[in-house]
Amino acid sequence: MTTRRIGLIGCGDVSVVHIEAIRDIEGLELVGVADTDPEALARATAATGVPGFASTQELIDAVGPDAVHVTTPHHQHIGPSLTALEAGVHVLQEKPLAHTLDEGRRLVDALARIPAGGPKVGICFQNRYNLASRRLHEMLGSGELGAVRGAWASVVWTRSAEYYRAKPWRGTWEGSGGGLLINQAIHTLDLVQWLLGGVERTDGHVATRKYADVIEVEDTADLLLHHPGGITTSFYATLTAPQHRPVEIELDCENAYVILHGGTDGGLTIRWADGRVETLAERSVTSGGRSYWGVSHELLIRDFHERIEDPEPFWIGPGEAMASLEILKEAYRLSGVGG
Ligand SMILES: NC(=O)c1ccc[n+]([C@@H]2O[C@H](COP(=O)([O-])OP(=O)(O)OC[C@H]3O[C@@H](n4cnc5c(N)ncnc54)[C@H](O)[C@@H]3O)[C@@H](O)[C@H]2O)c1
Repeated sequence: MTTRRIGLIGCGDVSVVHIEAIRDIEGLELVGVADTDPEALARATAATGVPGFASTQELIDAVGPDAVHVTTPHHQHIGPSLTALEAGVHVLQEKPLAHTLDEGRRLVDALARIPAGGPKVGICFQNRYNLASRRLHEMLGSGELGAVRGAWASVVWTRSAEYYRAKPWRGTWEGSGGGLLINQAIHTLDLVQWLLGGVERTDGHVATRKYADVIEVEDTADLLLHHPGGITTSFYATLTAPQHRPVEIELDCENAYVILHGGTDGGLTIRWADGRVETLAERSVTSGGRSYWGVSHELLIRDFHERIEDPEPFWIGPGEAMASLEILKEAYRLSGVGG
């Protein structure tokens, strides 16, 4: 396989996971990094030894990458991604799709105008690569669980005020387009809608319960997601807990009650109606970067690059990523919040 030359756009916290994956995956080579913040850029060039640039366009013009990984704040996702697409460069972009629905649609529309064989776009919903998520998706597809009667999901995590103070975009509507739902719980929203055939209607409410003196955006949400076939998911999420609890997705099915737990000790437990109990442990952590509920980041990055020459679009593209954005934006609309 010829070496694929990668540019990294945005050299903050999550960029470390991408840099490690690019280093560890055979056939990938980091050829440049870009950041609008000179200090972040200096740290990244020192750590990686590749040239640094102040913008996506400058990086593309100077080093001509085959692909870029976009790891910028939410309101800076679509600009770099469109710049790369217009230059014929593949894009692997961090979640969420965008900080607003309109921005998200710009990327969906731009991709639709690209003829077959053109650049690809993938969005990092890496939890779809977790063993438990994949197995559950397979089991739902095969019909062995029987009809789903209802679901429960929760994301009960903790964040400090310092988390927001360190990167102020995270706490603003303008920079982030939301809080807990668009930044943290979006992975679980995406999994639930992927597992249960999408969301037709969202009810619910969001609130800022603990950090109102630090952030504009929500830190707590309770939703009822309506899926096709009259199934609903009760969804609770908060960042106000004293410690992280494992993410939970539970499905009440005709033939079994299924419990998916996130985290490094997580996995799948299937309590069959006939009394058998089956378990599947999640993979242990492979990346030195984010190690909690994101061990599959490297798998997604690897898969994106392995499939880049395939004729069909990457399976988690902007259209797929629109689903979670639409759910959470509806929750904001119903709660009368948003920028
Ligand atoms: N998939 C996951 O599990 C996961 C985990 C963490 C973060 N993320 C996502 O990664 C993204 C970045 O998060 P972070 O915590 O690393 O943020 P961060 O603030 O730590 O880093 C972002 C970097 O991008 C730079 N930047 C801003 N605008 C830019 C532009 N136009 N061009 C180039 N650089 C620019 C900033 O200066 C900063 O250094 C967010 O979208 C976040 O939601 C995803």
